[in-house]
Amino acid sequence: MKTGRAGRLIVGNWKMNGTRAALAEIRAMAARDDLWVAPPFTLIHAALEAGGGRVRIGGQDSHVRDFGAHTGCVSAAMLADLGASFVIVGHSERRSDQRESDAEVRAKAHAGQAAELDVILCVGETLEQRDAGRAEAVVADQLMGSLPDDPAGLIIAYEPVWAIGTGRTPTVADVGAMHAHIRARLVAQFGDAGAALPILYGGSVNPGNAAALLAVPEVGGALVGGASLTAAGLIAIAEAVPD
Ligand code: 13P
Repeated sequence: MKTGRAGRLIVGNWKMNGTRAALAEIRAMAARDDLWVAPPFTLIHAALEAGGGRVRIGGQDSHVRDFGAHTGCVSAAMLADLGASFVIVGHSERRSDQRESDAEVRAKAHAGQAAELDVILCVGETLEQRDAGRAEAVVADQLMGSLPDDPAGLIIAYEPVWAIGTGRTPTVADVGAMHAHIRARLVAQFGDAGAALPILYGGSVNPGNAAALLAVPEVGGALVGGASLTAAGLIAIAEAVPD
């Protein structure tokens, strides 16, 4: 798995943004060789070309099966066939918009691994759950329900739902506490391998707050939405990684 400065992963999730004009941003991101971007499916093939092998390109989701009668869906095997190298599963927008369950997310993680993609598995609590003091319990439940059997190529992303697209972030203390909590679960599940899995933070990461968030112990990188839509934004975040 190719990581950036100090072993941190900086991953852009473009969500439902980007037409061919946005390929210029991928070209500009290729000034570095350590950025990861998940554009919409429609741009993956062209983004692989635009990145010239220097930007790792992945999918924002994929189906649990390799092929079949599933109109509108894309499989992990199809992403791998294009040359994509990772897939995001269990993003909170899919858990809410498409009502994806932990069991489905887990099956997607297995399918991604079977296609030899790195799998970024997202978890995170809502504001209501945090305010009720249940954030750690909710994240542990999501994690234990969605983790694949094997840790191969697995990356966890902690994305508090209330921090996504809102400009609000948890305190660095809260991020550190949650990442330590996730780490303990990963070690309990996978032993030494669980100690080595990257745990990304996501939710309103921008060039101004990246250095502080990326300095938190157990934060292995960032999963970035809005600020990843421009090369300038994602590169500035990557440059903020502390040594
Ligand atoms: P924002 O960075 O826009 O808050 O989005 C975070 C996210 O959901 C990345 O997957």
